[in-house]
Amino acid sequence: MSTPNDGGKKAAAESKVQPATGKLGVMTVGMGSVATTLIAGVEAVRKELAKPIGSLTQMGTIRLGKRTDGRSPLIKDFAPIADLNDVVFTGWDIFPENMYEAAEHAQVLDRDHLKSIKPFLEAIKPMPAVFDQHYVKRLNGTHVKQGKSKCDLAQQLRSDIQNFKAQVNRVVVIWAGSTEIFLEPSAVHQSIEAFEKGLVDNNPNIAPSQIYAYAALKEGVPFANGAPNLTVDLPCMQQLSKLTGAPICGKDFKTGQTFMKTVLAPAFKARMLGVSGWYSTNILGNRDGEVLDDPESFKTKEESKLGVLDFILQPELYPDLYKDIYHKVRINYYPPRGDNKEGWDNIDIFGWLGYPMQIKVDFLCRDSILAAPIALDLVLFLDLAQRTPELKHLGIQEWLSFYFKSPMTAEGLYPEHDLFIQSMKLKNTLRHIMGEELITHLGLEYYD
Ligand SMILES: NC(=O)c1ccc[n+]([C@@H]2O[C@H](COP(=O)([O-])OP(=O)(O)OC[C@H]3O[C@@H](n4cnc5c(N)ncnc54)[C@H](O)[C@@H]3O)[C@@H](O)[C@H]2O)c1
Repeated sequence: MSTPNDGGKKAAAESKVQPATGKLGVMTVGMGSVATTLIAGVEAVRKELAKPIGSLTQMGTIRLGKRTDGRSPLIKDFAPIADLNDVVFTGWDIFPENMYEAAEHAQVLDRDHLKSIKPFLEAIKPMPAVFDQHYVKRLNGTHVKQGKSKCDLAQQLRSDIQNFKAQVNRVVVIWAGSTEIFLEPSAVHQSIEAFEKGLVDNNPNIAPSQIYAYAALKEGVPFANGAPNLTVDLPCMQQLSKLTGAPICGKDFKTGQTFMKTVLAPAFKARMLGVSGWYSTNILGNRDGEVLDDPESFKTKEESKLGVLDFILQPELYPDLYKDIYHKVRINYYPPRGDNKEGWDNIDIFGWLGYPMQIKVDFLCRDSILAAPIALDLVLFLDLAQRTPELKHLGIQEWLSFYFKSPMTAEGLYPEHDLFIQSMKLKNTLRHIMGEELITHLGLEYYD
């Protein structure tokens, strides 16, 4: 246990978490808006051209001990998180553009920002992808691997990962690829054996994202899922993750509207205010918006966005307040806006004696500016989890729910969606693995 004045250094020295020695390789599946904004952003931060705003691992602090102790080190100084200077990027995409061209295409960062790191971005070129248009109807890429079977494609991905592993000390894979069509878990997903047979038989229930996840986990590489696809949210992947000690987390980055929803809904519940309706609509004009314009991909996103309110408001516990809530989510593809999404919410609430009130939220956000720091934190925290004996073989890293619209949990557990519960869970996990006392906010000792 550390002392009030050491900022947590002693606990860090005593913890069983292995240090972040050497290079961390980050492989992004999909090198579109989110991935290019992440990669360009990390380089801009390394060159001190900008600050890593929105990233908890880079800017966040963690309180240790009592409020009177005055110990609040930066999270990155407290837990052995990989240094940004040690992070190396590569990835896959169905288009061959290098990261400079892809970032220009994405139109998230302005030209001046991109020019200042042009040679770095030009040097990163995607490897050919595993892709099948059946699973993402609106895209048609040419930079795609050919293989006799899904098993063969998985082997090719494993070779890509092995080659990258040879150049760095540790690797993490993150899905920042397009949203695939809606699929449900089926027999092929129930065990590793069934999945491996499915790969050989080209089972149609195995989508490309699952082939990447399988390849990564077989290689003992952690996998984060930024899209609402099932991908690692399947029994076979959870078994494999535990077996190879490669942590997993997902799904669907919690960035704009759902981020707001998981802040506001807990506030209404905390004050016992009722909700009769919540209408959410978005306009979005980037490639993600184009993919989500296809009803089959939208269905995957819709499922991910709709679950939130029921879990937070618990209508079964509070029927008078939430049982008749009408919840609707819409995403409209509107090219003029590009990555600058606008999300409107109309919330019909009611108070004392049932009197109605309304709240309107108009969030003029930037999708990938919100998603990039989340992607960064996820790869750094997954790498930390793999170096932490207590977390390495758990499979799902529920403490990373903070970052997801549809957090994965152990079977039979409902997910925590409330952003502040998620934040407390994340920080308490860090305290726990570093041998610090958990913070319960009880605070009676101050009045002894
Ligand atoms: N930006 C956000 O705020 C946000 C929030 C939540 C979730 N997401 C999800 O993150 C993902 C990425 O979003 P984006 O805005 O970067 O989209 P994007 O369309 O700009 O980029 C996705 C990239 O993935 C590539 N791709 C598609 N299938 C692939 C495959 N099988 N293998 C390799 N590459 C493949 C596409 O060619 C494209 O370049 C989407 O699924 C999106 O729904 C984004």
